[in-house]
Amino acid sequence: MLEKINKAADFIRTKVDSVPEIGLILGTGLNSLAEMVRNAKSISYKDIPGMAVSTAPSHQGKFIFGKLANKSVVIMQGRLHYYEGYSMQEVTFPIRIMQALGVKTLLVTNAAGSLNEELQPGDIVLITDHINFTGNNPLIGKNYAELGERFPSMNEPYSKRLIGFCQEIAAENDFEVKKGIYTGLSGPSLETRAECNMLVFLGSDLVGMSTVPEVIVAIQSEMEVLGISVVTNLSNIFHNEAHSQEQIWENAEKARINLEKLILCLLKKI
Ligand code: HPA
Repeated sequence: MLEKINKAADFIRTKVDSVPEIGLILGTGLNSLAEMVRNAKSISYKDIPGMAVSTAPSHQGKFIFGKLANKSVVIMQGRLHYYEGYSMQEVTFPIRIMQALGVKTLLVTNAAGSLNEELQPGDIVLITDHINFTGNNPLIGKNYAELGERFPSMNEPYSKRLIGFCQEIAAENDFEVKKGIYTGLSGPSLETRAECNMLVFLGSDLVGMSTVPEVIVAIQSEMEVLGISVVTNLSNIFHNEAHSQEQIWENAEKARINLEKLILCLLKKI
């Protein structure tokens, strides 16, 4: 495992001069920030030794290295999902690569369904905590002390400091951000109404199929983490129609401008 990580990181170092401090994972419909990167150098996942390849629609499957808001960043344009059949270790391998490259802060975005009436399609929601309902954990298996704690604390997986910055930025720029608890499931089928009711009962505001594995590994890597969901749809408890992928895209687009502003301003403050 360690050798595999170092091999991938060494390969990247031969292609890229900049040393990224901040990692960004862009979720469904949130790819546009990647186009703003200066001195961009992109590397397809398929070219990186040991890395799996992203198959989800809209997930392009590449790292983009360069400067965004004057910070050295690495952007994951497209992530790997557990429902694609990858192991949890494969899903989180990019976070291990970021760790090896020296990334200290991880900003994660995702598309999520709302379980809370206050969170409407198009809303930007700062994740305050998560529930791992994937039935798995990326840290199961042999632990390498070099990578971090065997039992990392999940006391504050989502940085209160970064959440505070986001709230300030939203207030200064006159747009709204909300807060919520995200539950990560394996998918790919969406939740039934009974499952949605269970998730509400457990304290969830948002539901999705990503983020939790990456955040667990980032916390073990001692990164400071911010998670942002864009509400792309209401869950089944609020309506009786089937979800359409077009609607999900349209709602992600509604949040795009403010989300871009939020992330660019945040990068300046970190
Ligand atoms: N459920 C699970 N994952 C999702 C949803 C949802 O309603 N919306 C976007 N990703």
